[in-house]
Amino acid sequence: MEHLNYSKNAKTLHVAFFSLILLGCCLVPYFWFGVVPIKSDRQVETEYIDVTLSPIMPEDELERDVLLEEFRWCRYCHVMQPGHPDEPGPSLYKIFGRRAATVPGFYYSDVFLQAGEDKLYWTEQTIDEFITDPQKYLPGNRMFHGPIFIDDPERRKRVINLLKKWTAEGSTYGKKH
Ligand code: HEC
Repeated sequence: MEHLNYSKNAKTLHVAFFSLILLGCCLVPYFWFGVVPIKSDRQVETEYIDVTLSPIMPEDELERDVLLEEFRWCRYCHVMQPGHPDEPGPSLYKIFGRRAATVPGFYYSDVFLQAGEDKLYWTEQTIDEFITDPQKYLPGNRMFHGPIFIDDPERRKRVINLLKKWTAEGSTYGKKH
């Protein structure tokens, strides 16, 4: 009888233990990439303002380096053409002039939704400020993994130059590189 009780307890413990491990594994994508398996009802309407972009700079050595370093991280989480809302980051397609937090169906953080509602638009200037230190610009947002704090203004300039080329309507950059 005692032996039976023991195995029953052991079974409960095992189930509890493995459930915890399983739960922990399910949360890894969140802690690692900020991916959340639920959807939000709060949605900011997609809207654009007219922005005049500065001319695209010819590709140089530094840009080629940034393409393989920082920009590779951007692409790790973001697609640059229309994508699926379940990717780790929202699609950056036609990002310039776009109101923040407006990719339909993407699960944005509250800070991002608030910024969108407060009419933050993405321009060369605001993206530059954002990627200098994303957590300082919008504290508590979910873009927190990888080398995304770019303190060198010349490297940020190259990221923005790449964004202009890759996120434009009909761009084939992602296919060529
Ligand atoms: C680890 C994944 C990850 C990486 C790497 C990353 N981002 Fe993000 N990014 C996100 C997430 C998640 C959001 C939405 C944040 C939120 O809702 O709090 C976001 C939001 C943005 C937005 C605002 C989009 C919108 O719809 O309002 C821009 C612009 C952006 N990222 C640019 C970049 C650039 C440029 C890089 C590379 C330097 C980069 N991101 C690297 C995950 C990432």
